[in-house]
Amino acid sequence: MTRRPEIIAVDAESPDDEVIAYAAGIIRGGGLVAMPTETVYGLAGSALDPASIARIYEAKGRPRHNPLIAHVASLPQARELASEWPMMADELASRFWPGPLTLVLRRKAIVPDALTAGLDTFGARVPDHAVALALISACGFPLAAPSANRFTEVSPVTALQVARGLGKSVDLILDAGRTRVGIESTVVDVSGGRPVILRPGMISRTTVEAVVGPTGRPSPVKREDEARPAPGMIARHYAPRAQVVLFERGQFDDIQRDVATRLAATEKLAMILCTLSQPRDLAVQVFFGLGEDAAEYAAHLYDAFHAADESGCSTLYVERPPLTPEWDAIHDRLRRAAHPE
Ligand code: TXA
Ligand code: MG
Repeated sequence: MTRRPEIIAVDAESPDDEVIAYAAGIIRGGGLVAMPTETVYGLAGSALDPASIARIYEAKGRPRHNPLIAHVASLPQARELASEWPMMADELASRFWPGPLTLVLRRKAIVPDALTAGLDTFGARVPDHAVALALISACGFPLAAPSANRFTEVSPVTALQVARGLGKSVDLILDAGRTRVGIESTVVDVSGGRPVILRPGMISRTTVEAVVGPTGRPSPVKREDEARPAPGMIARHYAPRAQVVLFERGQFDDIQRDVATRLAATEKLAMILCTLSQPRDLAVQVFFGLGEDAAEYAAHLYDAFHAADESGCSTLYVERPPLTPEWDAIHDRLRRAAHPE
């Protein structure tokens, strides 16, 4: 029998002080707590304690060359960790924090190598979630919190998804319901001369550029064992177990034929469309109509991935969403989910 982690329900807006104190006690003792943020659930441990960080890597099965984000409760707390605080950090942080934006900055020596995979920079963000903020404040130190899933799997947006993915390797899960944004934060490197978006998120390139001007392109990773600036460098990431097949709206008839053939072979199939309701002639067993609003779509995407897997679908067909900038991060996640390796 698999042992289950402890799950405690907390109010997303005003979490119970005693529950937060209990969770903070676990983290202070070197344990791990899955906490909700506005993007996805994070697997939190002390960002300043190498032993806690080692436990996080182990629980996720994540390679050590993939650095973690320090979650802080305020802008001044981020500044305490940074050796340089460029003007554009101020501009972005004051505009988007708390919120789904991670800044990569030069670090001070108090930020351990274990957190940054040896890089001389670190990632920081102030999450826009009362539970995460209360937990960071109760601990009194920053929390390392990668998404609370096994490496390469889909990030969790509910406590149940955390429990299914990580099992007993997490000591406690704080359950505040489904997360609001639904995909991971935008990661912007402000440690060099020009800001570089390392991971697209729901704060779009256009929105970032409106604040700090033109952004540069990330430089490609040269060696396999090098510290990865972002998971962008790992093609297959955020992937469900089902095979993801992307198609254009114009290819719908071809896809329908494919569906019919596979259904005859008694396969279980799922589909995501940018409509709200299921077309009458569409025969897949599991259907998700995520609509044409990018924010709403993102909020439900990973839930659909998890649900398709839970119902044992072999294939998940996904209609490509519109090509406007507010969909960039969604295209990025869909591309990765569909990547074969
Ligand atoms: O929305 C989020 O960011 C979620 C929630 C839980 O906060 N966290 C999350 O963490 O997605 P994780 O570890 O799955 O992704 C962190 C990203 C990775 O792409 C990592 O490579 C990048 O941040 N990152 C962290 N430190 C970095 C650094 N020093 N240089 C470049 N990239 C860094
Ligand atoms: Mg992740």
